[in-house]
Amino acid sequence: MVPSQLYRATVVDTPVSPFEGGEARYDADSAIVVEGGVIRFRGAFDEASRRHPDATVVDLRDGVLLPGLVDTHVHFPQLRSMAGLGLPLLDWLDRYTLPEETRFVDDAYAREVAPPFLNALAAAGTTSALVFGSHFAGAMREFFGAASSSGLRITSGLVVGDRMLLDGLYTTPERAREEAAALVEAWHGRGRLRYAVTPRFSLSASDDLLAACSDTFASRDDLWFTSHLNENPAEVDTVASLFPDRRDYLDTYDHHGLVNRRSVFAHSVHSTVPELARMAEAGASVAHCPTSNSALGSGLFPLRRHLDAGVRVALGTDVGAGNGFSLFKDGIQAYFMQMLLGPDGVQLEPAHLLYLATLAGAEALGLDGVGHLGVGMQFDAIHVRPAPGSAYDIVLSRSESAGDVLARTFALATTHDVAATWVGGDLVHARSSVLGDEGASAMTDPVPLHG
Ligand code: GUN
Ligand code: ZN
Repeated sequence: MVPSQLYRATVVDTPVSPFEGGEARYDADSAIVVEGGVIRFRGAFDEASRRHPDATVVDLRDGVLLPGLVDTHVHFPQLRSMAGLGLPLLDWLDRYTLPEETRFVDDAYAREVAPPFLNALAAAGTTSALVFGSHFAGAMREFFGAASSSGLRITSGLVVGDRMLLDGLYTTPERAREEAAALVEAWHGRGRLRYAVTPRFSLSASDDLLAACSDTFASRDDLWFTSHLNENPAEVDTVASLFPDRRDYLDTYDHHGLVNRRSVFAHSVHSTVPELARMAEAGASVAHCPTSNSALGSGLFPLRRHLDAGVRVALGTDVGAGNGFSLFKDGIQAYFMQMLLGPDGVQLEPAHLLYLATLAGAEALGLDGVGHLGVGMQFDAIHVRPAPGSAYDIVLSRSESAGDVLARTFALATTHDVAATWVGGDLVHARSSVLGDEGASAMTDPVPLHG
C-alpha cells in the first residue's frame, strides 16, 4: 500500500485566475491527502480520516497552507551582491553585479554559492523557479548538480553575452552552441530540472550570438527561453541603436525565433503596444519584478496594458536587483505600485496576489499539475506559520476569509514565517519540526531536508 499523508490545515489557493473571474478558495480546518506526491483528496477532515485511516496525520492548524510559490525570474550568481542600492540598471550592472558574476569562472566558487541560493528559495517558500544562470558552463554544472539535490523545480541555463559586459564574461557563438548542447544533454528533463536558453539581453548579444541561441532553442521542442526586455529607458535606447534594422526590442529576439509559448521576458516596463500584441500572439510570458523595478528606478509596470493585450504575467523577485527572495514582498510591492499608478493601475485584490505568485507562474513556466492545491495536483505547498505574538500572528489569527488571510500574509509575512516547504510531497525545507514540536525555535536556521 502506498503510504499517504493527511495534512490538516486552513488551505487557501486560486485554482482559477482572478483576472478571469476566479476567486480565492478558502477551506478552514480541512484536509489534504497526498499519495506519491499527488493530492488524492481535499475536503473535510472527518471524511478524509474515514477514507484514509492509515494516513499519517500532519497537524498544520496553526497558520495557513498555501500552494508553493513560483519565482519566474531570479539570478543565481547575484546572491552575494544583492541589495546594491542607488543606481539605475546599467550602472548597477557595472558597479555591483558584473564584477561578482566574473567570480563564477571558478567552479569552486559556484559550488559554494549554489546550495545557499537554493536554500534561500526553499526557505522563502519558492518551490519552482526560472533561474538566470551564470556565464560559465562549469558554474552551471555545479548549479544543476545542487539544484538536483535540492528537490526544487528548477529551469535554468547558461547565460551568454559577447559584448558590453566585462572581460571574462564573453563567449562566442560556437562556444555558446557547444556548451549549451552539453548542458542540455546532461541536465534537461532530469528529475525536476529543465534547460532555458538565456542570452543576458540583446544589449550584450550580437546577432550571431542570438542566432546561436536560436539554434539551441530550435534543437528540441521542450526547451525554455528567457531574457530581459524593456527594463530601463537607457537600455531600450542602446538596444535601438545596436539593432537599427529591428522593429523594436522584442524583435531583436523575435527575428531569431526566440519568442514563443516557452519564452519568458523579465520586466517589460517600457514595452510598446505592438510588442505587447506580439507577445500575446506568440503566447510568451512576462516576469513582473516590482521590487527590482523600484530599487533600480526602472518604472511603474503597466499591468493594465499587459492584461488588455492578453499577455500572461507572473511574478519574479529578480534577486539581486530585487530586494529578497520572498514573493510575498514582491506581491505586496506589485500592489503598491499599481496603487501609485492611480487610474492607470490595476486595483489588485488579495486573490490576484496569490494567483500571481503561484498559478500564474506555473502557467508561465508550463508546469502542468502545479500552482494550486486541488485533487490531482502535485503537493507543492508551504506552511506559513507566524512567530507567536508577532504582528502577523495577531492579525492572521483574526482572519476568517481568503481576502483577510491573503492580504495580511502578503503585507506582513516574511521568509521567517515559512515553516515548511514541500515539492511533489517531498519536504525540502523546514524551519522547525512540522510535526508539532513546540520546543523547536520558531527562528532556527533553514534545514535542507531533500537529497
Ligand atoms: N539586464 C541585463 N542583466 C540584468 C540583470 O542582471 N538584472 C536585471 N535586473 N536586468 C538585467
Ligand atoms: Zn534579471
